[in-house]
Amino acid sequence: MSLRLGDPAPNFKAKTTKGEIDFYEYLGDGWGILFSHPADFTPVCTTELGKTAHLMEEFARRNVKVMAVSVDPLDKHFQWVGDINETQHCTVDFPIIADDDRQVATLYDMIHPNASATATVRSLFVIGPDKTVKLMITYPASTGRNFNEVLRVVDSLQLTAKYSLATPADWQQGEDVIVVPAVSTEDAEKRFGTLEIVKPYLRYTKVPKQ
Ligand code: BEZ
Repeated sequence: MSLRLGDPAPNFKAKTTKGEIDFYEYLGDGWGILFSHPADFTPVCTTELGKTAHLMEEFARRNVKVMAVSVDPLDKHFQWVGDINETQHCTVDFPIIADDDRQVATLYDMIHPNASATATVRSLFVIGPDKTVKLMITYPASTGRNFNEVLRVVDSLQLTAKYSLATPADWQQGEDVIVVPAVSTEDAEKRFGTLEIVKPYLRYTKVPKQ
C-alpha cells in the first residue's frame, strides 16, 4: 500500500555513492528528504541533482539531510555524478542510492506502472525528526521539480512543528503566518502577541523571533 502523510517513513539499508547507509542512522535527529529520479544520464534529472547540490547549504541550515534514489547501479551513478558536476558547475556530495533491486522504490511506491514499468517517477518525501512522512510530491518524468519550493515547504513544516502556526498561499519567509484553528485567540495572543483578525477563522500573526 502506498504511503500517506503521517505514516512512519520506512527504514532501509542501501548501497549509495557514499557507501552502505542505514536511512534512519543517516537522518539522525534531523529532517530528511528522499527523492527519486527516473534514470541516470537524463537531462531533467541532471539539472535537478545539480540544483540540489547548489542548495546544500540551505538544506544544512534547516537541519535537513538529502538522499537521492534511482534504479540505476552504482557504477553508473559515479559516472553520471561526474557529468552533473561538470555541466551544472557543482559538487554533488549527498548520497545517491543504487536501487537496482528496487527495494527503496517499492517501499516508497516510487514506480507508477502506468507512467513507466521500470523507472521511478519524481517522488519526493520530507521526513520529520519523528521519522514520519510530512510531505509527498510526485511529478512526471518530464517536469523538473522546484527545489526552492521544497525549501519553502520545509520552512512551513518546521514553523508548524515549533509553533503550531500555518502558512498561507504563496507564503515566503518574513511574511505573516496563520494561527491554526485549534488555538484560541486568547492563547494565540499570549503566545504570539497581537493578531490581525480578518475573520474568526482567519487570524494572522508575525513569525515569532527564533
Ligand atoms: C529526464 O530526466 O530528462 C527525463 C527522464 C525520463 C523521461 C523524460 C525526461
